[in-house]
Amino acid sequence: MLEHIQETAAFLKGKMHTSPETAIILGTGLGSLADEITDKYEISYKDIPHFPLSTVEGHSGKLIFGKLGQKDIMAMQGRFHFYEGYSMQEVTFPVRVMRELGIKTLFVSNAAGGMNPAFSIGDLMIITDHINLFPEHPLRGKNIPYGPRFPDMSQAYDRELIRKADAIAQEKGIKVQHGVYLGTQGPTFETPAEYKMFHIMGADAVGMSTVPEVIVANHCGIKVFGVSVITDLGLEGQIVEVSHEEVQKAADEAQPRMTEIMRELINRA
Ligand code: HPA
Repeated sequence: MLEHIQETAAFLKGKMHTSPETAIILGTGLGSLADEITDKYEISYKDIPHFPLSTVEGHSGKLIFGKLGQKDIMAMQGRFHFYEGYSMQEVTFPVRVMRELGIKTLFVSNAAGGMNPAFSIGDLMIITDHINLFPEHPLRGKNIPYGPRFPDMSQAYDRELIRKADAIAQEKGIKVQHGVYLGTQGPTFETPAEYKMFHIMGADAVGMSTVPEVIVANHCGIKVFGVSVITDLGLEGQIVEVSHEEVQKAADEAQPRMTEIMRELINRA
């Protein structure tokens, strides 16, 4: 495993002519940020040794290197979900490669179902903490010596970045919520009873990604900032049918606000 990570990193270093310390996983709501990257160069996942192949519609996904504003960045277009059948090692492999490449801060986004009655569809939720309900832990197995066997998770989402994001949102007049993201495997959306249970457990939003990558980033000493777009509501008595199309529509509508906060935060971070 470590050997594969190092081989992949060595391959990428051979292609890279920048040294980014910032990485972005272009999840739901952040796709258009890719269009703002300048001095771009890209490497397809299919050309990267040991990289999993993404199953997203017709293309394999790619790493994009370049500048966002003044910052050198690397971005993942296409992420790996556990529900697609990837192992936890595959889902989190890119984050470990990031560690080898010298990444210090990771920005992530996702779509999530809101369970906090104060939330509305289209809201942005800055992730302050998470609950891991994936059936397999990404750090299960021999410890990779990027971090301790029993990693601390008391500040999985960097407080300083949250503070800066709040300041940016306020300056720009963008409403943001804060909350706990619960990660579960999917691919089903929740039953009403499950939404209720997750809310009672302490979660404000539920989704099918992010938690594995964030755990591994923390293990590697990479700071994390994450935002969820609330694309549907799992509120008792108000639950309606959820479709992927509706999730996508709400995410598209929120995209300009999400992009603005992320762009500015990445430049100030
Ligand atoms: N549940 C799980 N994942 C999701 C949801 C949801 O309601 N909405 C968007 N991703």
